Amino acid sequence: MTATTARVDCDVKDLGLAVLGRQRIEWASREMPVLAQIRQRFAAEKPLQGIRLVACCHVTTETANLALALQAGGADALLIASNPLSTQDDVAACLVAEHGIPVFAIKGEDTATYLRHVHRALDHRPQVIIDDGSDVVATLIQERQEQVAELIGTTEETTTGVVRLRAMLAAGVLAFPAVNVNDADTKHFFDNRYGTGQSTLDGIIRATNTLIAGKTLVVAGYGWCGKGTALRARGLGARVIVTEIDPVRALEAAMDGFQVAPMHEAAQVGDLFITVTGNKHIIRREHFELMKSGAMVANSGHFDIEIDLKVLEEMSHEVAHLRPFVQEYRLKSGKNVIVLGEGRLVNLAAAEGHPASVMDMSFANQALACEYLVKNKGQLAPGIYPVPAKLDGEIARLKLVAMGIEIDTLTATQVEYMNSWTAGT
Ligand code: ADE
Repeated sequence: MTATTARVDCDVKDLGLAVLGRQRIEWASREMPVLAQIRQRFAAEKPLQGIRLVACCHVTTETANLALALQAGGADALLIASNPLSTQDDVAACLVAEHGIPVFAIKGEDTATYLRHVHRALDHRPQVIIDDGSDVVATLIQERQEQVAELIGTTEETTTGVVRLRAMLAAGVLAFPAVNVNDADTKHFFDNRYGTGQSTLDGIIRATNTLIAGKTLVVAGYGWCGKGTALRARGLGARVIVTEIDPVRALEAAMDGFQVAPMHEAAQVGDLFITVTGNKHIIRREHFELMKSGAMVANSGHFDIEIDLKVLEEMSHEVAHLRPFVQEYRLKSGKNVIVLGEGRLVNLAAAEGHPASVMDMSFANQALACEYLVKNKGQLAPGIYPVPAKLDGEIARLKLVAMGIEIDTLTATQVEYMNSWTAGT
């Protein structure tokens, strides 16, 4: 449904879903106490007053809570999807109908619509961009140079987006400050590891209802997302094989107790493959040729490029839709390969993404990073900045308080010892 009501321009599926969206957003808010505190302070202090802000995120219940915090802070916020399959249509409806936030996102939108929404977001003339994968920032640089000067800065949610920002910096095209939210400790240690670990298996299980126990599960990539996925798969009883290109990460996986093997070996024995590398063509023709018939492949990396679906299609005579988010590629060789979530982020396509409790910290970082950019408007040279350690630490402290966990503090003697160099053997 494309609508321009008197108040809110939007492109959402059905505004009638708003009540369901409200219930689900409130449910998520129960596990987002840190963001709730920031929202309360923002409502009082209005640190983003009048700032035109675009958030390109997965439109989920958790993102809705972020959007409401930004709105409470005075931002003139507009939301678009960062993935064509991740939008929760009821959430989009609620944000428009009950909170007056313009949203342009529909689950299942085609690429043309996705790109149209990116341009609609840029028509908002953002001063701050929250990006997840860097599509808005890349489009701004490539197609809207005349708007670059209006940008105070951007924040980036995910590893893939940070990789792109670094490439922009190296190419000399990053003309504004970018805060690397992904690498905040309270983001990637929890969201990438425990969030991806749980939600990826959640997506696979919701899509297939398959039993993980006893399966040979291949995890491609042992970054934080791969570590979490391998850990949780083992917890469910899978025999886990990790593939890597980085020797240190491969060693880490081996010493964490996983079998490590190249993909051409893993391909022959895997029942279920999960790509989480951030790179392209991790599973390609030579691997499909080696797979057992009925092997399942899923992706939890940001873009749908990790599994070479184009080549799989060429190898097939037919693609059958077996269940939502489950497609069987019937190969000319007589074998079948099952693809989950169309090779897109399976945790968001077939499930609800990371649970609210980890997004609480990720989005607390996002909200504080936006405030930081606005507070330091004009003071930060173009470049990539970490979330200030003080903010990262404060988010951890608040999360512990919310979880009812107390920790020790250093005694005066310990402080003195830690600051001295004279005391030794
Ligand atoms: N990325 C992964 N999970 C997410 C979620 N639940 N909401 C927004 N972005 C996400």
